[in-house]
This record gives sequence, C-alpha cells and structure tokens, in this order.
Amino acid sequence: MNENIYIPKLAKIIKIKEEVSGLRPIKTFRTQFVEKNGFSHQCGQCAMLSVLGKGESMISISSSPLEKDFLQFSILKMGRVTSALHETEVGEIIGIRGPYGNNFPIENWKGKNLIFIGGGIGLAPIWSVLHTALKKKEDYGKLTLIYGARTSKDLVFKEELEKLNKKMNVHLSVDVEEKDWKEYVGFVPQNVTDKKPSPDNSISITCGPPIMIKFVIKALEELGFKDKQIYTTVENKMKCGIGKCGRCNIGKHYICKDGPVYSWAELKTLPQEY
Ligand SMILES: Cc1cc2nc3c(=O)[nH]c(=O)nc-3n(C[C@H](O)[C@H](O)[C@H](O)COP(=O)(O)OP(=O)(O)OC[C@H]3O[C@@H](n4cnc5c(N)ncnc54)[C@H](O)[C@@H]3O)c2cc1C
Ligand code: FES
Repeated sequence: MNENIYIPKLAKIIKIKEEVSGLRPIKTFRTQFVEKNGFSHQCGQCAMLSVLGKGESMISISSSPLEKDFLQFSILKMGRVTSALHETEVGEIIGIRGPYGNNFPIENWKGKNLIFIGGGIGLAPIWSVLHTALKKKEDYGKLTLIYGARTSKDLVFKEELEKLNKKMNVHLSVDVEEKDWKEYVGFVPQNVTDKKPSPDNSISITCGPPIMIKFVIKALEELGFKDKQIYTTVENKMKCGIGKCGRCNIGKHYICKDGPVYSWAELKTLPQEY
C-alpha cells in the first residue's frame, strides 16, 4: 500500500531550550523519530510540525544534515500551533512530515567565502547551513555571521554564539542602545554597511523579516554583490507543504516546492507576492 503523504511520522521531543522569553518567546526543540521511518534533509529544507488536535505549522529544520542523532527546530510562539508546541514537554510526541522545499546549493559554494546575515528568528534556517559549513570548514573560505535582534534578550542561540566567535567572524547587533552592550547598535542592514563584507569570491545568505531582507539586499548591492551572489528564503503562509493547495504561490511558483530558497537573481523575476 502507498504511504499517505499527509500522515506525519511520530517524533519524541528529547530536549527543549528556552532561547527567548517575554512577549515573543522562542524555544528550540530537539526531536528523534519514534520508529526507523524518519527522513534525512538538506540545508534550508523545512518540515510540517503537528500537535494532535491543534494543527500543523511549517518550520525550518535548524540542525545540520550532518547531525544524524536529532532534528532541531527553533520556534517563535505566534498562534495556535506554535503556542501548543511551546506548551509541550520533553518526552512528548509530536508529528513531523517532510522534508519539504529546495535547499541552499552549498555544494556549489565550495572554496567561497560565506557571509550569513540574519535577524531574529531568521537565524534558524541559516543555522543549518552555517553549521554544515563549519563542520566542513576546509571546503570553504572565510565564514562570517552578521546577526541582530531588537534587544540582546531577543538573540537566539546566545550560548552557541559566544562559542562561535572562536571559529568564525561574528558581528552582533541590537536595534537600540543598551547598558553593557559592547557590539553594534543599529539595524542589521546598517551593520552590514558598517562591516563591509567583500563581494570577492563570496556568497551571502540572508534570512529574517521581509523588511530586513529588503534593506540587507540593498546594502549588499551597494557593496558590489551581484544578484546571483545573494541567497534568501521566502516564508509565505503554507497549508499542504507539497504543492497541492495553492496557498503559498508567487505567480506560478509553489514556494513549498520550488522554494523557500532563492537567489536574488531568481526572486527578482517573480511577482512581489512575498
Ligand atoms: C518555509 C517556512 C519556514 C518557516 N520557518 C520557521 C521557523 O524556523 N521558526 C518559526 O518560528 N517560524 C517559522 N515559520 C513561520 C511559521 O510557519 C508560522 O509562524 C506558524 O505557521 C504560525 O502558526 P500558528 O498556528 O502558531 O499561528 P496561526 O494561529 O496560524 O497564526 C498566528 C499569526 O501568525 C501569522 N502567520 C502565520 N504563518 C505566517 C507566516 N508564514 N508568515 C507570517 N505570518 C504568519 C498569522 O497571520 C496570524 O497573524 C516558517 C514559515 C515558512 C513558510
Ligand atoms: S502550501 Fe500548499 S501549495 Fe504550497
């Protein structure tokens, strides 16, 4: 009998980490498939996470495909499903179907400098590709992360960011001045302009709120980056995740199937429905 593509695989939550508290809480969940019927993924792909009786949400897989022991998701509490996920505890079972979407073409980037630029929860899709590049550091040139959030309390992966500093260039920012904050103050695109990453032999990967992405791309263009050197993700609302319902479309593109990863050269040719 054919497998029903809408039926999620069961996964156990093995670790929950509170990344950000307050009004826009973010938690990171590590999960393991209950049976040996799980899947492997590629950098940038997503999965539909479900809580029984609550529904499903599309979430980026934030762990590297080279990490075989668990799948990781970092989730901002927004509404029905993400709130239900935030209420779960270690040991509970959730549903996962996927992996969905295309991926960052990281194999084509060998030998190049990679500049990761993220804002808020937008570091989640970047985290998977960043850690894959770090694990295969000898394959790539200089690795740089430019990442910011509204306040220092809103930065995700804080502990890991401190350790990351020893392995690659990390430039953090917060939107407004804070006591004891020693790094950049200002929006992420301004920090990009300030740090002036070189476009020579480089690829830039940017994820975050649409307004941030728009101005990061502008900043990169001013620094001399060409459209095909800039990659981003599109996070239109989704329902089926498999190119059937039409909820996520931009023109003829199904973002859940043809995206969510696009070079700016590709995205520019699509209608501005993102
Ligand atoms: C490809 C992709 C990758 C994503 N990756 C992540 C991730 O790694 N971590 C994460 O926290 N979130 C991610 N999201 C967003 C996540 O899917 C939504 O926040 C989630 O579906 C909201 O579900 P809910 O039931 O909690 O909220 P709902 O009750 O459905 O909605 C609550 C509010 O959120 C708004 N909303 C719902 N979905 C979206 C969306 N896609 N964009 C903007 N507003 C939305 C609704 O309009 C409503 O105002 C991703 C979305 C996509 C499409
Ligand atoms: S979410 Fe249904 S077609 Fe993309």
